[in-house]
Amino acid sequence: MSPLSVLNVARRSLGTLTLTSIFARQHSSLTADLIENMDKKATWDRFYTENSSSNFKNFEWFFGFDSVRDFIMPLLQPHTRTANPLHVLDMGCGTSALGPSIYEHSPVQVTVTCADISPIAVHLMREHVGAKVIEPQHSLSVLAFLELDCREMFRHFGADRLDLIVDKGTTDALLRSKDGSGKASHVVKQCLKTLRSSGRLLQFSDEDPDARLLWLETEGREPGEKPAQVAVQEVGKLRGVRYYCYQVTPHPIRELL
Ligand SMILES: C[S@@+](CC[C@H](N)C(=O)[O-])C[C@H]1O[C@@H](n2cnc3c(N)ncnc32)[C@H](O)[C@@H]1O
Repeated sequence: MSPLSVLNVARRSLGTLTLTSIFARQHSSLTADLIENMDKKATWDRFYTENSSSNFKNFEWFFGFDSVRDFIMPLLQPHTRTANPLHVLDMGCGTSALGPSIYEHSPVQVTVTCADISPIAVHLMREHVGAKVIEPQHSLSVLAFLELDCREMFRHFGADRLDLIVDKGTTDALLRSKDGSGKASHVVKQCLKTLRSSGRLLQFSDEDPDARLLWLETEGREPGEKPAQVAVQEVGKLRGVRYYCYQVTPHPIRELL
């Protein structure tokens, strides 16, 4: 692959990140790492370390909260049978403002957990949020940051615990890595087990529906179970790339076929 096509593949995967500036800063080995190894903790530790500065700025894969708020906010409906707050997980949060924005704008009580495999990203987010007061719309809402490999999600949260999982670029990162497709399949299964039956998994991705819908239907199915329901809506076109929101609903009663 020519240096130019490597740059183009990486630019597409990296969304808003200006790869030219990365090259200019002689980080081409980081770029190569990102192209092949986005499923590895070490790659992301390096990414967040090399892109951090004393002036913290959220890094957004693809786009920020405003582009996707209309997909997320209508799903934040209070439980009808319990007074428990909704539990939202931003899976592979990086240093995105998505989780903090959900916490800030939710009119219903939410616990938002922003989880990432990279302790560097988690540390940067804790520091940033600690230094800046965010007033949530619901005074009892909670925002938390967690270092977690999402392959361990079920062990951490347990069954039927989460109401909404948002995944902006994390499954894409796993799927596009040399050794990541098995991890991506495992993670989808973990998501469906930790979601309540009324819950939703939202994946934001630039992958074409022809490929992603089939993949989600196949991977979201445990042996002997009905497949999860999957729907897709277009988020829009940004910088010439079309983005989608995939909504996965766990099978309501997880009844055996
Ligand atoms: C493409 S970035 C997206 C970051 C963020 N969601 C955003 O929208 O900017 C993928 C993120 O997934 C995280 N990640 C990769 N593998 C993971 C895993 N197994 N468990 C948890 N996070 C993971 C990376 O550290 C990285 O922050």
